[in-house]
Order: sequence, then structure tokens, then C-alpha cells
Amino acid sequence: MTGTGGDSDVVRRERFSGGPARSFLSSLSADERIFEADLAVDRAHVVMLAEQGVVTDDEAATILQALDVVEVGEHDGLPEGEDIHAAIETAVIDQVGAVGGKMHTARSRNDEVAACIRYRLREDLVEAIEATLVCRESLATVAEEHVETVMPGFTHLQPAQPTTVAHWVCSYQQALERDTERLFEAFARTNQSPLGAAAFAGTTFDVDRGRVAELLGFDGVLDNAMDASATRDFLVETASALATLATHLSGLAEDLVVFANRGLVDLADEYSSTSSIMPQKVNPDTLELVRATAGDASAGLDGLLTTLKGLPRAYNRDLQRATPHVWASVDVVTEATEVAAGAVATADWPEAELEAAAGEGFSTATGVADLLAASGLPFRTAHEVLALAAEAAEDGGTPDYDTVATAADEVLDEPLSTYVSEEAVQTALDPVSNVAARDSLGGPAPETVRAHLDEVSDGIATDEATLDDLTASLNAANDELREEVTAYV
Ligand code: ARG
Repeated sequence: MTGTGGDSDVVRRERFSGGPARSFLSSLSADERIFEADLAVDRAHVVMLAEQGVVTDDEAATILQALDVVEVGEHDGLPEGEDIHAAIETAVIDQVGAVGGKMHTARSRNDEVAACIRYRLREDLVEAIEATLVCRESLATVAEEHVETVMPGFTHLQPAQPTTVAHWVCSYQQALERDTERLFEAFARTNQSPLGAAAFAGTTFDVDRGRVAELLGFDGVLDNAMDASATRDFLVETASALATLATHLSGLAEDLVVFANRGLVDLADEYSSTSSIMPQKVNPDTLELVRATAGDASAGLDGLLTTLKGLPRAYNRDLQRATPHVWASVDVVTEATEVAAGAVATADWPEAELEAAAGEGFSTATGVADLLAASGLPFRTAHEVLALAAEAAEDGGTPDYDTVATAADEVLDEPLSTYVSEEAVQTALDPVSNVAARDSLGGPAPETVRAHLDEVSDGIATDEATLDDLTASLNAANDELREEVTAYV
């Protein structure tokens, strides 16, 4: 070993030798997550340096071989260091001597770490997107099976209008479709290379930034070097998309908890838990934890934004603490999405109970009012008739035809039959036909939902194909990088 001195971190050597803030400064253990990413980034950089004649092919080969050895030793085998970048560089120099120090030519840990986070986050985003697709498929399957299963629909948690299980389930599918889209967008902006920005100010070396980006499967290069090395907005977008997804999941989980509580859904035992003291209890703990994940995700976004707020240009070490917020969010939200998908897929919908509950609380009232309004009455007058009928109904239940007719006499001063037949009113009072009549675009009528479901499966298939393409291009880039490296070693 020549010219490196000492046996610790090559970046700090003397200065990082045991000061009181040593462990506070170090991100080495947290950086385990970017171990593979850092090796890829190092390899692409070295290949480019050789292609540009900044290092010789022999020097590149020596460094690339050393990186292979570092890879075999895994993260646990790394020497001490302020972070993974310093530790890997130290490991390379310890193996091959001073020539290993050429690896860090024309770059800085600032563009390096930004590239590593982006490289690794792509994988995590692929998994998160995949989880949303699995969840959407679960939801769509339930919808296919329950297009005709009527259930109560709620506002303010009160019975509002009857709907169907399919219509309810599709409401979450549609929200998750946008979550998939937001994650794809976060992926696109994550998938840009900051490498070559160096510390923030570019470099005197004749680097080929496009080539490094290509070797790492990045879609393009972030031009301005100061922005490239300092920005973390791709983390914000990711954390925000995850927090939005987690918020949707929390609503889905809460609905299922409430429905289970009211006997409107049977959750599978494998997604329930029991009490350590009350032997009769079957509790929806799993979904409660899904619901709680929105707190983690929102805390992650908040922690990230608060860390980033007011940071001056260019790099500041605060950024080291920004990243873990996103790792934590992506892990917990992806898992919650998978769990929610499983809970939905295994739940049972008791059709008779749902149908019996569908008309509770006179939830057909709006449908009857619509019927009167369609027969020429101003909607506000029809609303008045049904409000009076609701008041007159026993126990807050659904009034019978006669009660509606009496209310009409009082409000209209003429018989209800002037406007509608008894049969039509009876039909509107029935939850099943009440639902079937709401066939406007996006409504719960079975034929409307069936048409919507065609679009749902097309949407899922399209997103799956897009995800496959992304994965394929990342794999192709990995293979290409491997081939390039192999040509040297
Ligand atoms: N561990 C650091 C991080 O995560 C790497 C960059 C260190 N750069 C520096 N100028 N101290 O941000």
C-alpha cells in the first residue's frame, strides 16, 4: 500500500479516528441498504473513466477486480468509515494500494450518494408499484364477484344510499390506480443521474455523464450540477405518493373494521387476532395496523420536508438524515399494501346480511325523491315529501307506500298518483332496484359497474406492462454493466 497512510477510513484517516462524534457522524450501518447500489455506481464510474482515458484499462481492471472482492465480503466485511462510500474506497485501496484512489477521480461523495439513493429507490418503487397492482387486482376480483351484492352506502358513517360491494371496492381501486400513477411519476423523476456533478461544481475531467447514466439504467442526466448533487425532491415525491397511498389504505382498513363490526363482512381468521384475556374475541388487528401506517407515512414525509426546509445550496450533511425517512416509509407502506390486498382477497361478503342492511335507515329515500322529480316535481318539493315520510316512518325505518302517499297529500295538496304509480314507488323503495336505477356514469347499477370493470382490468394490465418494461430495462442495464466490467477483469 502506498501513499494512503494509516489503516482507517481513506477519506478521514487521521481526522476520523475516534472523535466523540464518530458514531453520530457515521451513516455506515444505515448505508447497508445502498451497498449494492454503491458498487454499481463505482463500477459504472470506473468503466466511464477508462473509456474516457482518465484512467488506463489496467487501472480500471485493478479497481473493478477489487470491487468484486468487496462485493463478496458484503457490507459486514467493510472496514470502518464515515459512510459506505468511504468504506468501500478504503476497502479498495487496502486491497490494491494507491491506484485504488483513482476511483474517486472526477466525482464526490455528494453526487455519489445521490446516485446511490436513486439507484436503490428505483427497486423499492418497483416493489411498491407491484404491491399497488396486487391490491388493485384483489379489489377488482371482489368487484367481479359482487356486482349485484347490494350493501348500505354511508356518509358520516350513517346509512345514506344503497350501493353494491363492487361499487364500494371499485372506489378504492380507482384511488389506488392514481397511487400507482403517482409512484410511476416518482420513479421517472428518481430515474435521473446526478453523477458527474461532483461536489456541486462539475469537474475539470472530460467525463461522459450520459454514458454513466446509461450504464446504470438511468433515463437521463440532471444537468445543473448544483441541483443534481443537492436536490432530494425525488424523495419528497416518493414519500408524498406513499403517504397518499397509505391514507387510502387507512380508509379501506377503517371501512373493513367498521363493516366487520356491523356484521357486513367476515374477515379471514388469518387477518385477525385474538385477545390474551378475552377468549371469545376475534379482532381486526391487522387492518388496524394498516390504518396506523398512514401515521408512519405522514411522519416520513413530514420528517423529510422538515429536514430539507431551508437547506442552503449546495450539499449539507443534513441530507444524510433525509434518506432514512423514505426507506422507512417505502418499507412499511409496501408491506401494508400487500397485507391490505390479502385481507381484501380473503374476506367474505355475507350477501343476505348485506341486502337486509342495504335499505336500513330509509336509505332508499333519495331514490324515491329522484323518481318524483323525474315525474315533474321540483326536486326540492320531492325532498320535502320524502323528509315528511321519513319522519312519519316507524323507528326511523323505511316508510311503506301509504306513508309516502300521506306525506305527498300533505305537501302537494294532490294525490301522489298524479305523478307516479304505486308500483314505481314500491320499486324505488326496494334497495336492489333502487341501486339498479342509478346507472349514470360511475354509479352503482350493475351494468354500469360491469362496464367500469372492463376499464379497470385494462388499466391494471397496462400498468403491469409498464412495470414489466421498467424492470426489463433495469435488468438490461445491470447485464450491460456486468458485461462491461467483465471485459476489463
Ligand atoms: N453519507 C453522506 C450522505 O448520506 C454522503 C455524502 C458525504 N458528503 C460530504 N460532503 N460530507 O449524505
